[in-house]
Amino acid sequence: MSPDAPILFFDSGVGGLSVLGPTRALLPCAPIVYVADSAAFPYGTRSEAEIAARVPALLAQLVDRFKPRLVVIACNTASTIALDHARAALDISVVGTVPAIKTAAALSKNRVIAVLGTDATVRQPYVDDLSHRFAADCVVIRNGSSRLVELAEDKMAGRAVSPQEVRAAVQPGFDREPFGDAVDVTVLACTHFPLLLDELVAAFPGMDFVDGSHGIARRIAHLTRGQPWPDAAPPGKAIFTGGLPSESLIASLCQFGIEEVGAL
Ligand code: DGL
Repeated sequence: MSPDAPILFFDSGVGGLSVLGPTRALLPCAPIVYVADSAAFPYGTRSEAEIAARVPALLAQLVDRFKPRLVVIACNTASTIALDHARAALDISVVGTVPAIKTAAALSKNRVIAVLGTDATVRQPYVDDLSHRFAADCVVIRNGSSRLVELAEDKMAGRAVSPQEVRAAVQPGFDREPFGDAVDVTVLACTHFPLLLDELVAAFPGMDFVDGSHGIARRIAHLTRGQPWPDAAPPGKAIFTGGLPSESLIASLCQFGIEEVGAL
């Protein structure tokens, strides 16, 4: 294992930064390649068949090019649909991102929790399975919001996003569900959404929000324990499949240690 072998983070857009942040805190010298499949963004409104075909094929191409030590699918939509296909297609470890339903169920006093993700994620059998296993005594509301994904992209591209806009993107999904007004814990089941945590907290006073990003970072640190790293943090790289992003987004990437940005 070369110390220079990177960890490859993969998402449709900037959502994976919510996993990269806590990972860098644990592994400050890790070489990073961050890949945003912006050519196919957003994933959340695509079909299962499209995602299951696209993600493993693209990852195989990226692994061939960057020779990473580990792949992190920092995207709930891709993980809940294509994690098994990706593992079958690659001969290195692949870490996925799954909704933190167990954590939410442990916290909920009302026994009513929400899974806030993309439309594609919230309809997955994977979510039903986690709900049966870890939240059997809770009502689990599924709230899909593609608008919230756009707002997270806007924020990272430098636009101030208001709590009112965030509330308008989320509240209708609660309003149409029986018990929607009793939700006290919401699982952020899309990696874009922790990037809007401040706005969500302001928009929904009294609601708890949980996500899996710190757990995934610990899993990455565990899987790479004992491996060699460079002596100092090398500049992180980002690749966008849909062409170079805006200058303001490039400035946000810098805050995550990403200093080289290119297109695939
Ligand atoms: N960040 C992604 C997720 O965790 C997907 C957002 C999208 O492309 O719709 O589900």
